[in-house]
Amino acid sequence: MAQGEILGLLQGLIICWKMLEMHVINTFGEGFREDSNGGQPMCVGQCVFYASWDRDALIPCIGNVGNYIGWLLFISILLVFVGNSTYLDDHGPPPQKVLPFPSQVVYNRVGKCGSRTVVLLLRILSEKHGFNLVTSDIHNKTRLTKNEQMELIKNISTAEQPYLFTRHVHFLNFSRFGGDQPVYINIIRDPVNRFLSNYFFRRFGDWRGEQNHMIRTPNMRQEERYLDINVCILENYPECSNPKLFYIIPYFCGQHPRCREPGEWALERAKLNVNENFLLVGILEELEDVLLLLERFLPHYFKDVLSIYKNPEHRKLGNLTVTVKKTVPSPEAIQILYQRMRYEYEFYYYVKEQFHLLKRKFGLKSHIRKPSPRPEFFIPSPLETEEPINDEEEDDEKWLEDIYKR
Ligand SMILES: *[C@@H]1O[C@H](CO)[C@@H](O)[C@H](O)[C@H]1NC(C)=O
Ligand SMILES: *[C@@H]1O[C@H](CO)[C@@H](O)[C@H](O)[C@H]1NC(C)=O
Ligand SMILES: *[C@@H]1O[C@H](CO)[C@@H](O)[C@H](O)[C@H]1NC(C)=O
Ligand SMILES: *[C@@H]1O[C@H](CO)[C@@H](O)[C@H](O)[C@H]1NC(C)=O
Repeated sequence: MAQGEILGLLQGLIICWKMLEMHVINTFGEGFREDSNGGQPMCVGQCVFYASWDRDALIPCIGNVGNYIGWLLFISILLVFVGNSTYLDDHGPPPQKVLPFPSQVVYNRVGKCGSRTVVLLLRILSEKHGFNLVTSDIHNKTRLTKNEQMELIKNISTAEQPYLFTRHVHFLNFSRFGGDQPVYINIIRDPVNRFLSNYFFRRFGDWRGEQNHMIRTPNMRQEERYLDINVCILENYPECSNPKLFYIIPYFCGQHPRCREPGEWALERAKLNVNENFLLVGILEELEDVLLLLERFLPHYFKDVLSIYKNPEHRKLGNLTVTVKKTVPSPEAIQILYQRMRYEYEFYYYVKEQFHLLKRKFGLKSHIRKPSPRPEFFIPSPLETEEPINDEEEDDEKWLEDIYKR
């Protein structure tokens, strides 16, 4: 390439750069900045721009191959901008080709439904994909006053995007406070299994051992810690009765006081919310498929999540958690639990069905059996279901970071 043409190419590139700058200036509303050159077009940088209203300015640029390349680049970039700024307005979203890129995601994780594992994965993913993982230090407050909701929503909304906010918190209605409704995701599991997992976890902890847990729940009296689960259920202790057993639905229903009253109202509202605000509610029993779908739906956050999850190196972090001292309640006690948790089950089956529909739609095999029989009709064996990984509800998560940093 002749020297002149290389120069021309440089000029062309500078034009592109200038136009970009111009676009930026205009976009950000500072208006067009008058060039210091007093309107004298030079082939360096400005000529194309000036040429748009003074044709003579074009002459020195003509005949320079490098400059043509610059022109092409310039036009391509212009097309990209035009495409971005007006194509969508004129024609609506392009047909299902690329999924949109939600940049505000909230995972209001339900306690004891595998969220510890997912948060661990999110830490790895946020570094890998460069999104802003916002976790909360508050692990024991799922319902908020109106002011607290407003504060928290304001706080979340100002987080640098793309963000993923996660906390054990009942659904927050951003639009009620004038915010953009983020995309919600969540994972739930069989309600009785969740309950049992929590029951024993509160008392005896997990792999970190009983001692660790004694330190964390030092105020628990011995009678309570060693309370037989059958006694708890059959003798109607508050911990094993409603409204304590109405646990999963409020995460999806929201902050309204009725969301915590076991009943149809909360159930229906929770279902509605799942349809309207949740991109995906997965089932812990099928965690790998949940991750696969998250990868499909939110690639900017979850790309490669399944291979990370399956990677033996990370995998071993996941199965460190086994809730200890689990005993199986009697069949009679379990029947009673099912009765008390019928709304929870109705919700769980609803979500599970939706999840299986999604899986089918995206070509994932699901082991869809006949619709699950209602709980009244069978004696379940909840502890036999696979229990990938536990999480805990009221825990500080510093240990997670510590492990991850190792
Ligand atoms: C939550 O935990 C903090 C300490 O970690 C405690 O001070 C606070 O009272 C707890 N709140 C509730 C509602 O249990
Ligand atoms: C809001 O964010 C700031 C900084 O991230 C934090 O210090 C503060 O506690 C947050 N407030 C609420 C209500 O979450
Ligand atoms: C959220 O708030 C808006 C505005 O107040 C309301 O129209 C909508 O029904 C609410 N959604 C939920 C799920 O509470
Ligand atoms: C994880 O689980 C597998 C299968 O149960 C077991 O072989 C492995 O030793 C466990 N790893 C750790 C670190 O506990």
